Amino acid sequence: MKILIKKTYEELNKEAAKIVKEAIQAKPNLVLGLATGGTPLGCYQELIQIHKAGKLDFSKVAIFNLDEYLGLSTDHPQSYNYFMYENLLDYININRENFHIPDGMTKNIEKFCQEYEEKIQKAGGIDLQLLGIGRDGHVGFNEPGTPLDSRTQLVKLAESTIKDNSRFFERKEDVPRFAITLGVQTIFEAKKILLLASGENKADAVAKFIEGPITPQITASILQKHPDTIVILDEAAALKLKGKY
Ligand code: F6R
Repeated sequence: MKILIKKTYEELNKEAAKIVKEAIQAKPNLVLGLATGGTPLGCYQELIQIHKAGKLDFSKVAIFNLDEYLGLSTDHPQSYNYFMYENLLDYININRENFHIPDGMTKNIEKFCQEYEEKIQKAGGIDLQLLGIGRDGHVGFNEPGTPLDSRTQLVKLAESTIKDNSRFFERKEDVPRFAITLGVQTIFEAKKILLLASGENKADAVAKFIEGPITPQITASILQKHPDTIVILDEAAALKLKGKY
């Protein structure tokens, strides 16, 4: 893993957007894996600005999102589908047919998950996967204890995730308890991975996944074995790292 520590969240976003931009410029039909949540918002803003300046064409890019809450329809304001349009897709020239996200309303979850995996394979696999990390060390919604060889599946959200994500909902009770997520192994198969973490509340998880053992208790720790992962941290998120980077 290559670890980059930036002074601020703003600098982190610029660096992350630069990596995404260069990947698209090198391969206009890039298969891009994207995340939701608070962390990538700044990077998405940067990408929108670069696109508006005429410097980035998304017309051939395919996007596969990591996860979606079970039971939220695509037009639900807290669904991740809605999030993606509101925070990125409405402002770039993505071909909507090239945007994929798990369907939180699917009636046959197992079949859906298998087909989502197949779609990724058919697209040639994920070229660049953008990730955030949960305070419990999750990537996607692969909570502590998820097998490291897992593939796209239905998962139960951990209590800490429900609490953290309740900031996007009116009441904590409204946060769905289940989600569909790309598996740990599916994420690991991305050719290149870019994990972003910002803020002191991520410092513990960051130190554990970078410097601790590879364990299903911290699913991000699998990235220690990945051949091409870049981690960009701001100084607050890097606070508990012992090594020099
Ligand atoms: C989101 C996702 C999650 C988040 C993580 C961090 O699609 O898969 O793993 O990246 O929960 O969330 P934030 O960025 O809100 O702290």
